[in-house]
Amino acid sequence: MGSVVHDIEVKGSVLFYRTLFDVSELIQSVVSIDQKFIYNYIQLVLIKNVTKMYRTHTCNELTKKSDGEIVKLAGWVHRRRDHGGLIFIDLRDGYGLTQIVFDPDNSNAFEIGDKCRSEFVLEIEGKVRLRPDGQTNENLETGAIEVLVEKAIILNEAKTPPFEVDQDKEVSEELRMKFRYVDLRRERLHKNIVNRHKIFSFMRRYLDDQKFLDIETPMMIKGTPEGSREYIVPSRLFPGHFYVLPQSPQQLKQLLMISSFDKYYQMARCFRDEDLRGDRQPEFTQLDIEMAFVHEDDVMEVTEKLMTDLSKELYSDRKMMNEPFRRITWHDAMNTYGSDKPDLRFEMKFVDLSEVLATCDFKVFSGTIKSGGIVKALRVKGGAEFTRKEIDELEETAKTYGAKGLAYIKFTKDGPEGGIAKFFKEDEMARIKEHTKATEGDIIFFAADKFQVACESLGQVRLACGHKLNLIDENVLCYLWVTNFPMFHYNEQEQQLSAEHHPFTHPLEEDLEKLDTNPEEVRAYAYDLVLNGVELGGGSIRIHEPKLQSKIFELLKISKEDADKRFGHLLRAFEYGAPPHGGIALGMDRVVMILEKEPNIREVIAFPKDQRARDLMLDAPSVMPAEVIGEMHIDVRMPKQ
Ligand code: AMO
Ligand code: AMP
Repeated sequence: MGSVVHDIEVKGSVLFYRTLFDVSELIQSVVSIDQKFIYNYIQLVLIKNVTKMYRTHTCNELTKKSDGEIVKLAGWVHRRRDHGGLIFIDLRDGYGLTQIVFDPDNSNAFEIGDKCRSEFVLEIEGKVRLRPDGQTNENLETGAIEVLVEKAIILNEAKTPPFEVDQDKEVSEELRMKFRYVDLRRERLHKNIVNRHKIFSFMRRYLDDQKFLDIETPMMIKGTPEGSREYIVPSRLFPGHFYVLPQSPQQLKQLLMISSFDKYYQMARCFRDEDLRGDRQPEFTQLDIEMAFVHEDDVMEVTEKLMTDLSKELYSDRKMMNEPFRRITWHDAMNTYGSDKPDLRFEMKFVDLSEVLATCDFKVFSGTIKSGGIVKALRVKGGAEFTRKEIDELEETAKTYGAKGLAYIKFTKDGPEGGIAKFFKEDEMARIKEHTKATEGDIIFFAADKFQVACESLGQVRLACGHKLNLIDENVLCYLWVTNFPMFHYNEQEQQLSAEHHPFTHPLEEDLEKLDTNPEEVRAYAYDLVLNGVELGGGSIRIHEPKLQSKIFELLKISKEDADKRFGHLLRAFEYGAPPHGGIALGMDRVVMILEKEPNIREVIAFPKDQRARDLMLDAPSVMPAEVIGEMHIDVRMPKQ
């Protein structure tokens, strides 16, 4: 900003002019020619410039060093207090707060201060002064000073806001969404959006340095077969035809590899019409990456280094666990922790008791094992204290994930008791104890079912116990790679195989021969990045051989004609020389959510949708005029009430 002239004084043949920023800096110049001319010139040009400026500083800039300066600030009235004739206002802008003071001695300014209400937009000019002893605020960047207002202008009045901006009070989500622009002024949300920008910007810089190219891909495309329902856009020119919005730029980034772009990235907007949860939005952002001539280690390495550097630079107060990131296969993750995104900020592993209990008298267990299922046990230290009600709640959790029940034994000072303790002979109990390493004060939970159900339901019990017993350190960042996902899973509903990731995922070389014999056992070069028990991202090495791709379609019961209709463009492209390639996509909203310790993805998105995919501020979706719909060749049928 340099030194802007603020006022001028002519004494004899000497012209003094004072800069806005440093009163002590009096610059003298001898005016020998036409003193009056210079005076007028400075008055007209320079001072005009100053008065035209809304502000000389932001509300987060002034410190002790500025004592005595004349400054201009602009912002919102955050808080107003009347104190013994003086009016104090915390003036807020997008950067922070500065305390400004209106003194009744300056009646013009005071009148304005008196008129101000919450969220009025104000421009002031005044002199910085140190706050009196005992009045400083250590928690505020500008806490050492205040500005004594000399002039003030109300730039805009404001209605009483629908909720208080200056407090982090619980406000109904509906109200927050409707008045999102007010909500976004609040400190926590404002900080989230600023930090979101910092994360995005770090990633862009990082990938630029690594010679990745940022390439945009279209928003109006043809259906991508990735599992979720798609949002569709009717075509005006082609009646009955539709574009779809991309669930991800998956096929397009693969095509870019075939176009020899080698290293691609994009902050890609993605759209999925699926049931919403705390970590899902119908439109969200992915850091989408694709690389040519790579193996999975190459993709994982770039991603790991990016997330490590980012965490250390922007979140240095968080403790990193697992550096380098721990890697665990999908099977081990399920088998040991009952999740394909285990939270490893705490241990608590499962113990498999299928062998130990194969012939026990408790038929629920022995019967399950006989019919090909398993029995998993989870030892929870200190869990013998759990009340009946708490155990019932944990059982409910297990049941939500398909379990038929949640058996347990408590180990108290009188030995094993409660739950299913009575069903076991002494030697069986001894072996349960030995395998689970249970000691006095513990509880053991059991899940007996098919592999997936037993593991998944007990995994949720593990997680609930981790929270219950405060085993989770919120300051820890625990990254984890889950690798070797299965290529397919059996879709009970459709009674056929479905792709676990997407149908372009490359099976492990060593499992190729099982494609014909045992497809459900085929593992893929597919990997997920997990942070604190949340799936941040997923990727894979892709199939680049047309023959293998056709084979996978066959197994997924996608006919040649259907494949041609749906992915003809990709299959054709593969015939023109496709390099081996692979990539990953990180859910950016989730990245920000976890790094910012927010429980919900909506807290890190400027204008999110609510749980029913509505934008309550814009009031979308909305009814369109009949003629607009007509132009799209669409007849609307309303559901019967
Ligand atoms: P995937 O479907 O696993 O992979 O998505 C990658 C990541 O995107 C995030 N994500 C979401 N975030 C918010 N709301 C949603 N509805 C939502 N859905 C997904 C998750 C997820 O891990 N094309 C592949 C990637 C690849 O193979 O390169 C893909 O989209 O954090
Ligand atoms: P029941 O004999 O059906 O009353 O079950 C005794 C205990 O075993 C109860 O605590 C049930 O919750 C539990 N239970 C039943 N089925 C299963 C199962 N498949 N896995 C684990 N626990 C079970």
